[in-house]
Formats: sequence, C-alpha cells, structure tokens
Amino acid sequence: MSATTETATALPRLPDGPRQLLIDGDFVDAADGATMPCYNPATGEIQTQVAVAGAEDVDRAVRVARHAFEEGPWRDFTPSARARVLWRLADLIEEHTDELALTESLDNGKPLAEARGDLGFAAEVFRYYAGAATRIDGRTVTPSLPGPWHAYTRREPLGVVGQIIPWNFPLMIASWKIAPALATGNTVVLKPAEQTPLSALRLGELFLEAGLPAGVLNVLNGVGSVTGAAIAAHDGVDKVAFTGSAETGRQILKAAMGNLKKVSLELGGKSPNIVFSDANLEAATSTAAAAIFSHMGEVCIAGSRLYVQHDVFDDVVNGVADAARSLRIGAGVVPDTQIGPLVSDEQLRRVTGYIDHALANGARALAGGGRRGDRGYFVEPTVLVDVEPNARVVREEIFGPVLVARPFEDPAELAREANDTRYGLAAGVWTSDLAKAHRVAAELRAGMVFVNTWGAIDPTLPFGGYKESGWGRELGPDALDLYTETKTVVVAL
Ligand code: NAI
Ligand code: MG
Repeated sequence: MSATTETATALPRLPDGPRQLLIDGDFVDAADGATMPCYNPATGEIQTQVAVAGAEDVDRAVRVARHAFEEGPWRDFTPSARARVLWRLADLIEEHTDELALTESLDNGKPLAEARGDLGFAAEVFRYYAGAATRIDGRTVTPSLPGPWHAYTRREPLGVVGQIIPWNFPLMIASWKIAPALATGNTVVLKPAEQTPLSALRLGELFLEAGLPAGVLNVLNGVGSVTGAAIAAHDGVDKVAFTGSAETGRQILKAAMGNLKKVSLELGGKSPNIVFSDANLEAATSTAAAAIFSHMGEVCIAGSRLYVQHDVFDDVVNGVADAARSLRIGAGVVPDTQIGPLVSDEQLRRVTGYIDHALANGARALAGGGRRGDRGYFVEPTVLVDVEPNARVVREEIFGPVLVARPFEDPAELAREANDTRYGLAAGVWTSDLAKAHRVAAELRAGMVFVNTWGAIDPTLPFGGYKESGWGRELGPDALDLYTETKTVVVAL
C-alpha cells in the first residue's frame, strides 16, 4: 500500500477543540492576535490555525500561575483533593480516547493504535501521581547537637513551573510533566511543541472539567525561540522542565541562568541495542525492529544502533530488514497503518539528509533508503550496514526510522563502542546468560537498560539519561523530587 493511495481515500476529519491559549481558565487569543497553521503530516495540508503566544502572553500566564499558587483556591486543596482532580482527569482521558487519539494522530502523524497507547499510558501516569499526592512526606531527623531537639523535613512545591514539551509524544510527555507538578501542589505554564499543540490544549480543557481551578494549568502554544525562550528566561518561573534536543537544552540552561531557576532536561539519545549469539534470536530480531521503527523512530529511547555478535549478524540484520520492508506505510488514521509520516517537512528533510549522507559515504541500505511518495512526510523504514563508528549516522541522533547495524566480536570492545557516544539514555542487551546480562547492564552508561526487551516503560520506572541525555529522572518517585524543595525545620526544645 503506498502513501499516495492511502491518503487519497476519505479520511476522518480533525475533531473540534480549543485553538487558542489557555490562560487563567479561559481560552483567549494571543495579545497580538498571532496564529500559525497546523499541518497534517500525511498530506502536508493545513488543517487548522492555532494561536501563538508572544512574550506578553507568557508574562501574563506566569503572573496568573503565581497568583494561583500563592492566593488562589489551589493552595487550600488538600493532597487528597489534588489526587481527586488527577484521578478524574485520567478518567476523562479514557472517556475521550477516540477523540484524543484522532487529534493526536492527525497532528503528529502517528498510527492511531500508537496514539491510543500513548493516551492509555498518560492516564496511568495521572493515576500514579494521584496516588503519590497523599504520600509526599518529610522525615523526622535526630541531630547529634547537644540538647533536646525536634527536627524534621517538609517537602514543599517549587511554585510556578514552566514545562516545554516536544512533538513526538505530545500528550504523553505532557502527562509526565504535569502530573507530578500538580500532585505536589505547583502551578504550571505548559508549552506544547508548535508542530503538535492540539492535544495539550484539549487536555487543558479537560482539566477544567476535572475541577482544576483556573490559572493552575496554563497552556500556551508558540514557537521555541520566542515562547519557549520567554518561559525559560522568565524571572517569575521557579523551574523549567524540558524534553527535546540537546541543542535546545543548552539554550534553556543559558536562559535559566538569570534567576537560577531549577532545570530538568530529558534530551536525546543514540541508544545501543546489543544482541549476543546466545540470545533468543527471533525475539531479539523482531524487537530490534520495533525498537527503531515504532512511532517512526521519533523516539528519544529509539534503539538506533544495533550491535550483533558476528556469527549471527547476517541472520539478525536480514531479519530486521525483512521486518522493515513488511511494515505498512500510510496515514496514521488509516486502520492497519504501522508507519505514519514524520511530523514535519523539516523532520523529513533532516532524516532523508542523514540517509543520503550515509549512502554517499559507503553505507549500504538493506531496507528502505529514502522518502516514500511525494505527498506527506513519509520515510521508508531503513536499515544501514557498512557504517564506520565515526559516521554521522552512527554518532548523531536521527530521530527517524533509520537503524545502523554493526557486528562485534570481542564483548569487552563492544562495551567500549556502545558507550562511545555523547548520549546515555537507553541500552538493550539480548542474551540467555544471566550473569552476562547483568555484567553488561552494569557496564553500559545509560539511564535505562532493557534486558531481553526494549522500551518497557511504566509510571513506576524512573526515566532519564546519563551524559548529554539529560538532567534528572522523570516518572517513578524520582519525578516528585523534580517538583519539590526540601525544607529542614529545627526546633530547640
Ligand atoms: P527542539 O528541542 O528544538 O524542540 C522541542 C521543544 O522545545 C519544542 O516545544 C520547541 O518549541 C521548544 N524550543 C525550541 N527552541 C527553544 C528555545 N530556544 N527555548 C525554549 N524552548 C525551545 O526540537 P526540534 O527542533 O523540534 O527537533 C530537532 C531534533 O531534536 C530532532 O531531530 C530530535 O533529534 C531531537 N528531539 C528530541 C526529542 C526527545 O524526545 N528527546 C523530542 C523532539 C526532538
Ligand atoms: Mg529546534
């Protein structure tokens, strides 16, 4: 099935939903009235217009969030009352799954089934942090100072939190950020990516329905260099949480210097997936394909570097190439689509540029190798071999359905090569030797190591990276630390 025939048939329309800025509980136009088009990645056509916040709107949203934090009804919400809002929101996400999944699929391009999966995960994240809201406790401490004392710690919200999210999992990554921030009593100014703002705006509307007071969650669409930069630099923002490219992460750090706001970063990766010859090769092969091709490879934890022990290299890599060729490419909203378009024309050019560069420099494509069709932003699932360790496609994050595969002989040398990257987000190990699995897991410099699986994420499991893959851990109890200050109270008795 080609992309062109898929998209020529009548497809579902974009659901109605808010297209303005959510500030102080109301959907409003930008102060200067600016809007920008929102494209359907399967066709390249404009599907709606969305308001774009400027610095003035950011300033207003930050003041509103400050007021909501210090004076509004939110500060009087008990932990249990905060939990109830998050729980209701999770239920609303599930009630509106069809509509939200369609919105997400049409905005981002991803297959509907994947959009549904994202939403299910988001709902579970809100429930996990609903449960956490009543468990944000301090400790009593026994100092060794002379005299009787009563000393304890409290965990308090930071205040106004700026959250800047990317376009690859718009609603899901929003949930990872909003849920722990609200569970701990903060207020939020959230900026979705300008490529995919629609689901976050609808989420803001559902939050009002769930009973969140006005001004606690403000949602401002806008371009990174203006709206995102204004949030990162604003003196009224106590913390900025970001997911996206390492390059933008650096810019956010610079912008945050002014008031030394807290920063947490979830950045990119170039994650190695390692297959030893004693592994279950069938499972390793199909999962290696899923690790790079699901969500079109626009995944920070994509398994984008495949290392296979030399004696099984051809079998495994040819199997992954077969899997790549068998994937059905089409618009995300067409049932049975497995590979949708990339999110944007910019991303299409970036990803095909990497492939072209590799092919021009001696790499061989066992599957794929370029764009599919001339309408929409489709790229063929691509498997590249004959690539050198210092090739751009081996070193840089491509963020598309492009796998590089290299054989290895010596396991000690392998760990060195796997770790030879600026990133350290995820890694995979496939072996039936338990001791080897744990040994290699300990050697890999990565925030998450998957053994005989890939991409097993859950609200309970901390998620984040070593090295240039980021600062801090989201999900799990760890994310509560990203949104609280510890106060030590010492009482002389
Ligand atoms: P980006 O990192 O520039 O954009 C992510 C978010 O940051 C968006 O909301 C954007 O508006 C905002 N942003 C951009 N510049 C900003 C600034 N100066 N200050 C504050 N916020 C800013 O990512 P982009 O340009 O869309 O994609 C480029 C590459 O980044 C991708 O090819 C991929 O390699 C990587 N990326 C990684 C993601 C991840 O999940 N780790 C997600 C998205 C992109
Ligand atoms: Mg950018």
